[in-house]
Amino acid sequence: MSEIRSVVLGVGGYLPDKILTNHELAKTVDTSDEWIRERSGICQRHIAAADEFTSDLGTHAAKAAIEHAGLTIENVDLIIVATTTPDLTFPSTATIIQEKLGMQHGAAFDIQAVCSGFIYALHIADAMIKAGPYKHILVIGAETFSRILDWDDRSTCVLFGDGAGAMLLGRSETSERGIISNFIRSDGRYCDLLMVDGGPSRTQTVGHVRMVGNQVFRHAVKDIAIAMKECAAQIGIKPSDVDWFVPHQANQRILDGVARQLKLRPDQVISTVAQHANTSAASVPLAFDTAVKDGRIKPGDLVMLEAFGGGFTWGASLLRL
Ligand code: COA
Repeated sequence: MSEIRSVVLGVGGYLPDKILTNHELAKTVDTSDEWIRERSGICQRHIAAADEFTSDLGTHAAKAAIEHAGLTIENVDLIIVATTTPDLTFPSTATIIQEKLGMQHGAAFDIQAVCSGFIYALHIADAMIKAGPYKHILVIGAETFSRILDWDDRSTCVLFGDGAGAMLLGRSETSERGIISNFIRSDGRYCDLLMVDGGPSRTQTVGHVRMVGNQVFRHAVKDIAIAMKECAAQIGIKPSDVDWFVPHQANQRILDGVARQLKLRPDQVISTVAQHANTSAASVPLAFDTAVKDGRIKPGDLVMLEAFGGGFTWGASLLRL
């Protein structure tokens, strides 16, 4: 019997027009371009306009992915949005995007796994395609992290940006392409090391990002390497056997640390952290979109995606484009 595969039919990305450089940031907070570049590799980030919401960013990315696939919104059965910065506490950002896309059928829901959200959403979408009856699922990572940053806290505000990325998955019973394996993990013992200090139930406020950066860094390098090994082992290969590695874009030093541990060549690693900074759940699909559209990742290539975030949550997905 042939195997059901979730095939990537289209990808899309969107970044707000406004760019905030390290130099500009250094005028309002006690930091420098040199410090930010050296410690994180980040040069700039995009910031959403005051009247631009997570759903707007996600809608732009979704439209680009649908167009890239050569399909229309009528083909989409389900929308899954990974976000930590929803437009509102409810309804879900997914239903707002559903409305903005003019989709009056199917279903839409959000999932929350912070920076690992897109990997979690891909795993869910893959399982739902395999279980049926879904034929086309739009998976979106969209964030306006600028809205939950404390712009006086130099240890966090320099690291994040806004953006959205999307992937349109289609069901196939004949293709050798598509999602091959997934791996997700979380460990709530570490929830205080990377968190937002507000929320509807505890404080009735939105809160700001708080992070113990050096501890997050250590866990991220170790756990990402394990996730990638687990994902690769499911089909009997090593992480270095893949054509491309599309990591969560949090910090160039984390990317380099993982690459060293797993013996990946620098030219296998897609890095957009310098231009995009950390866009949380949008970071992996945005980086993937960038490398597909600039021609580096080609149909047939074997690609490993990974992410790590608050919770802690982490995971990886292996796919053939
Ligand atoms: N500009 C200038 N100095 C800064 C600064 C900034 N933006 N942010 C922190 N510093 C200072 C600190 O106050 C500290 O000063 P002190 O030694 O006088 O106390 C010094 O720099 C070193 O801070 P430390 O936190 O130890 O630096 P680091 O080498 O660990 O780098 C991060 C900091 C945040 C870049 C790094 O820990 C990191 O990237 N962590 C992971 C973050 C991440 O990816 N989070 C998201 C995961 S999804």
